[in-house]
Amino acid sequence: MADYSNPKEQVILVTGAAGGLGSALTLRLCQQDCTVVALDKNPKVLNEMADMVVAEGGLEPVIYPMDLLGAAPDDFARLAESIGENLHHLDALVHTAVAFSGLTPFEHYEPTRWLKEMQINVNSPVFLTQALLPLLKENSGRILFTGEDPQLPHKPYWGAYGMAKAGLKAFSNMLAEELENSGVTVETIVPPPMHTRHRAKAWPAEDPASLASPLEVAELYLQKLNCLPMAK
Ligand SMILES: NC(=O)c1ccc[n+]([C@@H]2O[C@H](COP(=O)([O-])OP(=O)(O)OC[C@H]3O[C@@H](n4cnc5c(N)ncnc54)[C@H](OP(=O)(O)O)[C@@H]3O)[C@@H](O)[C@H]2O)c1
Repeated sequence: MADYSNPKEQVILVTGAAGGLGSALTLRLCQQDCTVVALDKNPKVLNEMADMVVAEGGLEPVIYPMDLLGAAPDDFARLAESIGENLHHLDALVHTAVAFSGLTPFEHYEPTRWLKEMQINVNSPVFLTQALLPLLKENSGRILFTGEDPQLPHKPYWGAYGMAKAGLKAFSNMLAEELENSGVTVETIVPPPMHTRHRAKAWPAEDPASLASPLEVAELYLQKLNCLPMAK
């Protein structure tokens, strides 16, 4: 159970928490006694991730199944309300969820797929951020978006994923300036190539040993969240 008498304890919402980076980050945060609200779309995979975290000695994350494709502002408002009521504060929001179905020439890109990837990769993080902003402002919170190589949206075949990441980066810059004097910090982290399902969709033949592990990359986020391991 969360111990709010401990001033070190942070409440952090991670999207894509059952994914490669998201599950590694959830594990490392829970091992630092943070309370993680773990959001992803598949409840079964979320539960398995929570079991893994506990087996690895972390505080049990609070799982929150939500499909960002169909989520509307009302759903995000309910999530904010639930965090306020049950966990009483929110220190950080970390966006890692991603939808991508592989490199595709634009000529053959299904419009429904384009809309779906824009919805999950840019619209959902924008409106989730908006709903959680009041809680984050109360606590001088942090917002971390997960970005991409800035050249990628200019390269062929990346389709809606590339466009969404470019849009999200612009949104992150805009919001950082708007919130300059609010106490809330906003940043985009660009992870190095990592061995995850997402990466394998673009580079299926790549040697995983040549890539960073999500656990290594999670440490970058821990630094930004001031959640580094205590000195022994
Ligand atoms: N891997 C890399 O090399 C790399 C490089 C640069 C940037 N990034 C960025 O790093 C972040 C993490 O990527 P990753 O490599 O860890 O990807 P991943 O392993 O594919 O994890 C992404 C997670 O998001 C979930 N998700 C997808 N659609 C969703 C929806 N509609 N609602 C809720 N959750 C949904 C996925 O669930 P399902 O698996 O069930 O679909 C998955 O659990 C992403 O923002 C990605 O763009 C990754």
